Amino acid sequence: MSGPTTAINLAHKLSQFSELWTQKKIADLNDYEVKLAKLKGEFVWHTHEDTDELFLVLSGRLTIRLRETGDVVLMPGELFVVPRGVEHCPVAEEETAVLLLEPAGVLNTGDRPGPLTRPAEPPDQSRDPPSVRER
Ligand code: NI
Repeated sequence: MSGPTTAINLAHKLSQFSELWTQKKIADLNDYEVKLAKLKGEFVWHTHEDTDELFLVLSGRLTIRLRETGDVVLMPGELFVVPRGVEHCPVAEEETAVLLLEPAGVLNTGDRPGPLTRPAEPPDQSRDPPSVRER
């Protein structure tokens, strides 16, 4: 599969959606997906038994609650990798934009499927002005 041949602008991709807690796939990396999400409020406690999960904060502030070891607070430009098997709960007191890196197909709610479970999807390219719409 051939990927985009131009730069992927994160601010632009973030402008293409406003839903919270919905992962938007912006690139593939081998068997991994690079995704964006906007978060506000408290997610659900969950675990990914088979994979680590990378969070990179782009704007706002993200607290990742970890059941065993306490909170990790991420400011813009900071990242944290939740190790596989570690129960965690992301919390954002203000709207926060994050970049996520994890294997394709990982469920956002891990072992706790429920109302917040959503598959990753592409951003809404119809929101692009025609000059930057991808081919
Ligand atoms: Ni997770």
